[in-house]
Amino acid sequence: MQYSESIDLSRILDLKPLPLSSKPPSYLPHVSAKRAHLVAILVHVILGTVAICLALCVASAHSKEPAVSDSLAAAFQQAYEAEDSPLALQIAEQLKDFAQAEYIGTLYSVAVMHCRLGHTDESYSWLENCLATGFWNFRHLRDDDFQSIREEERFGKLMQSAWAKQYIAMFERKERSEFQKPDEVMKTLAMKPGERVADIGAGSGYFTIPVAKAVGHEGLVWAIDIRQEMLDYLRNLLEEEQVENVRLMFVDMDDPQLPDGRIDQILMTDILHYIQDRTACAAKLRVGPATGGRIVIIDYRLKSWEERPWGPPPEQQLSRDQVDVDFAAVGLMPVRGHEFLPEQYSVEYMAERSMPAGPALST
Ligand SMILES: C[S@@+](CC[C@H](N)C(=O)[O-])C[C@H]1O[C@@H](n2cnc3c(N)ncnc32)[C@H](O)[C@@H]1O
Repeated sequence: MQYSESIDLSRILDLKPLPLSSKPPSYLPHVSAKRAHLVAILVHVILGTVAICLALCVASAHSKEPAVSDSLAAAFQQAYEAEDSPLALQIAEQLKDFAQAEYIGTLYSVAVMHCRLGHTDESYSWLENCLATGFWNFRHLRDDDFQSIREEERFGKLMQSAWAKQYIAMFERKERSEFQKPDEVMKTLAMKPGERVADIGAGSGYFTIPVAKAVGHEGLVWAIDIRQEMLDYLRNLLEEEQVENVRLMFVDMDDPQLPDGRIDQILMTDILHYIQDRTACAAKLRVGPATGGRIVIIDYRLKSWEERPWGPPPEQQLSRDQVDVDFAAVGLMPVRGHEFLPEQYSVEYMAERSMPAGPALST
């Protein structure tokens, strides 16, 4: 809950008006109906007053939190700058209860301080605290502040986890939908109930989940990735959304381990530009699709840093023409292209043997 939001007291203590029945409640001694009714009203009024008082206490405690935590953070900063470690750490212990994203700088400083003092366990615990609050700029972890522990395996794992959080936040950022147009992409994919789909480089599941919903209970999706952190994140998401028709597959860089000839569509969104030997990759993809199955490639158009100061760097970008060449080498031909995405091309490929008669329909 944001502290600035007004607090709905009835939600905190479930303050529903107590029903006043015409019968005396069973917890009252046997008295006349009229008296029992009056007593019941009295009991309800008392209970209601107590509940409201409690709610007000909770609300006022909440409304004071920002002020308390702000002043604690300021006092901590003062002690930290004065290198008064005992005092700073004492304040930090109280700050723990306010471990929110806005105090992440303070949490980080506490981790640094513990590290400097040689309190390795505490330093890790505060770093984990930072991660748990949400967004984390993992580049800070490379800072010299953690020199004495940075070579440790535990530190490496923490860094990996921070990196994954950032990577996932990037895929899931709200603004992505402005250029990624997921609903329109889903329309062009035209998945049918019962289809089997491989989402290679599934990442955080940006497309895996809509695809799984589109193919329904009869269908099946293989979410394939080389990073366990992505699959772990996706597993949680699938549980939360109660999606049960997705199989997670952890694979090696150069082999998506597709089940032979059993896939209706292979989807690769923003992943082909990572792959060095694309012809070898295309050969592995070719075994997956069933007769008539398609491979859909969505990847970034070539643009300079000036034109697009984000996304894959120019030296890593991959032109649509190059994909045509690499895929043609193993008999995969373009059958349809879509031009509605401002930053990416979207092209469907099919094995020559299963293509409909007539020329390839490339755009
Ligand atoms: C830029 S993300 C795209 C994720 C997702 N497709 C999306 O559109 O949000 C690329 C993903 O591909 C994965 N990846 C990179 N190389 C891979 C490979 N050779 N095989 C399988 N996955 C790979 C990465 O771990 C990452 O999760």
